[in-house]
Amino acid sequence: MTGGASGIGLGIVERLVADGWKVVAGDINPVTLEQAFASFDAGDVAGVGCDVSVEDDVARLVATAVERFGRLDCMVNNAGISGAFGPIHELDVAHWDFTFAILARGVFLGTKHATRQFLAQGGGGSIVNMCSIAAWDGGTGPQAYSAAKAAVQNLTWSTAAELAAHRIRVNAVAPGSVITPMWMKGRDQSHVDQALALQPVKEPTTSAHVAEAVAFLADPEPAMITGTCVAVDGGISAAGTDLARRLGNNPGALRISGLNMGTSGAKSVVNVLDS
Ligand SMILES: NC(=O)c1ccc[n+]([C@@H]2O[C@H](COP(=O)([O-])OP(=O)(O)OC[C@H]3O[C@@H](n4cnc5c(N)ncnc54)[C@H](O)[C@@H]3O)[C@@H](O)[C@H]2O)c1
Repeated sequence: MTGGASGIGLGIVERLVADGWKVVAGDINPVTLEQAFASFDAGDVAGVGCDVSVEDDVARLVATAVERFGRLDCMVNNAGISGAFGPIHELDVAHWDFTFAILARGVFLGTKHATRQFLAQGGGGSIVNMCSIAAWDGGTGPQAYSAAKAAVQNLTWSTAAELAAHRIRVNAVAPGSVITPMWMKGRDQSHVDQALALQPVKEPTTSAHVAEAVAFLADPEPAMITGTCVAVDGGISAAGTDLARRLGNNPGALRISGLNMGTSGAKSVVNVLDS
């Protein structure tokens, strides 16, 4: 897996190890890599320096997994940064390209080299890509981040279809707001409170919640689940713009029910509900 030294990635390592997986975690940050894995049994987890935008690094990450543990059963392409930000007409091309190199090229390289290994083993295997609900609309993330995550979404679909013949499953997970070191950078508690206010489930989404979805998809058991993207967002994407609630029409809060006949000329039906 990639980006295992912090936040969601570290939560995934903890969950997979608890489930009995042996994990090789690649990360670009040697400091957090060393800190994060000091508490794990070296027989369960190996931390490897890896920049996901560099092909040789990703190839070496996969090779290390095979050397250490004999084979590869799952690849989690999780590493990420928030990337380029600012008005579109002020964005630096190099910053745009750097964002895509980590978020989109990194997932491509992880998919490429995991697939080579899966094919060398005779097929089978699972790839789980870290997408984001920012892939699905224009109002959730910075432009480059959202566009790169949309690329991850589509790469998940195309490779799921392409690799199905080899029984290689490719799925994605799309977190909403998860309070990790990346999410908190440049933010404070007031942003955490605002994020929770926007989330229909009034309990913070944690790295462990995301890891639960990853663990499910990593497992060979859901054999027919491929090409999906599982939102782990406490209902944010389900609520969409949340327009009904914002305009005071939250159905769950109404004390009446019935049938609105609109301008048809027929009388509407209104039932007053017991409180
Ligand atoms: N936190 C959220 O709310 C949220 C929401 C949606 C999606 N995500 C996605 O989840 C993933 C993890 O994010 P997080 O919030 O845990 O962030 P994080 O910063 O806590 O962890 C990201 C990890 O990726 C590593 N990394 C960065 N660049 C790398 C590179 N070039 N090569 C290898 N490793 C690299 C970092 O060192 C870090 O350990 C990212 O893909 C992010 O886009 C996060």
